[in-house]
Amino acid sequence: MLRTTAVLLMALMLCACAGGGDAPSADVERSDFGVTPAGDSVDLYTLTNPNGVTMEVTNYGGVITSLRVPDRNGNLEDVVLGFDSLATYTSDAYRSANPYFGALIGRYGNRIAEGEFSLNGETYTLETNNAPNHLHGGTEGFDQVVWDAEPFQKGDSVGVVLSHTSPDGHGGYPGRLDVEVTYTLTPDNAVAFDYHATTTEATPVNLTQHSYFNLDGDGDGTILDHELMINADRFTPVDSTLIPTGELRSVEGTPFDFTEPTPIGDGIDADNQQIAYGGGYDHNFVLADQPSDTLRLAARVYEPDTGRLMTVRTTEPGVQFYSGNFLDGSFTGKGEVYDQREGLALETQHFPDSPNQPDFPSTILRPDEEYSTRTVYQFSTRDAQ
Ligand code: GLA
Repeated sequence: MLRTTAVLLMALMLCACAGGGDAPSADVERSDFGVTPAGDSVDLYTLTNPNGVTMEVTNYGGVITSLRVPDRNGNLEDVVLGFDSLATYTSDAYRSANPYFGALIGRYGNRIAEGEFSLNGETYTLETNNAPNHLHGGTEGFDQVVWDAEPFQKGDSVGVVLSHTSPDGHGGYPGRLDVEVTYTLTPDNAVAFDYHATTTEATPVNLTQHSYFNLDGDGDGTILDHELMINADRFTPVDSTLIPTGELRSVEGTPFDFTEPTPIGDGIDADNQQIAYGGGYDHNFVLADQPSDTLRLAARVYEPDTGRLMTVRTTEPGVQFYSGNFLDGSFTGKGEVYDQREGLALETQHFPDSPNQPDFPSTILRPDEEYSTRTVYQFSTRDAQ
């Protein structure tokens, strides 16, 4: 058994708020989170903003283990699913069922059909860890990596820069990929993700973050009463293995119409072939067109009891809405059993299986280019109606 110690090794209190403690300052603290089965020491970074919002991030898989944000009365509660101990994340039981709680996903977020694609006349074969397809970079994806981590503070923003070099050919992907991802907690209660990568050979890249949210508080009931708006009038329908057919289908008149805020439970059990394939929602939405280098509104989630509102903005062209269909009570985190649909993910991304879909926006990164995307989850509240 690994013992989780919370030994404070470093405290950065660079804000030095001259007033001598009148206003709470932002803060980053590092503690030990344990040792992986391979013998690597892993850290936990606790980020705090001046409003008392805290986010805990480990450099194991870039996993966000907790995120405490206020409800409309100012009560802080944990709104993400996760575990207190590294041992649970590294256990065989967790890794074989991998729900990717809070993890940084790469090299390719989402599925690649039958783990195969062709590029520059060569065929590449990847692991088919989600039979018959490749999912989230395979069983040695970025969610399993011990990242190099550098905490930082810039004014009232605090964060961690995670970096990793994925060796040439790793998992079957061409090229060496140098990746840097910055997590930032801002003074306006937003969590920003800045993804950067360069490669030595043309290769597909699609990085995302796989936090599961329950705005009621960690694992407290289902997300079916959460009201969701997705800024998309089309989605990418899938086959029975969740690979897009290539069509961009209108959401109008379907359970996929979230153009106006709609309780997730309204359509999740609809008699609809796409819902049946996903076991609920597990689909990529085509975000409304805007220049790709500026943040666009992707989605809003509102929880009426607590008033918590999460707004997702991204430079990415798509977002996967996953309604936690595969959660089945196998995992207990932070005192809560995670049952079906007790968390939702909004994974900003390029579309699934893009390397095999010539009409989708390209995910190929070339040696003379820099991969650069940004996603921001902003937390606020609304008064009761
Ligand atoms: C993604 C996939 C889902 C599922 C989860 C992890 O969201 O689209 O089908 O694999 O990851 O359980």
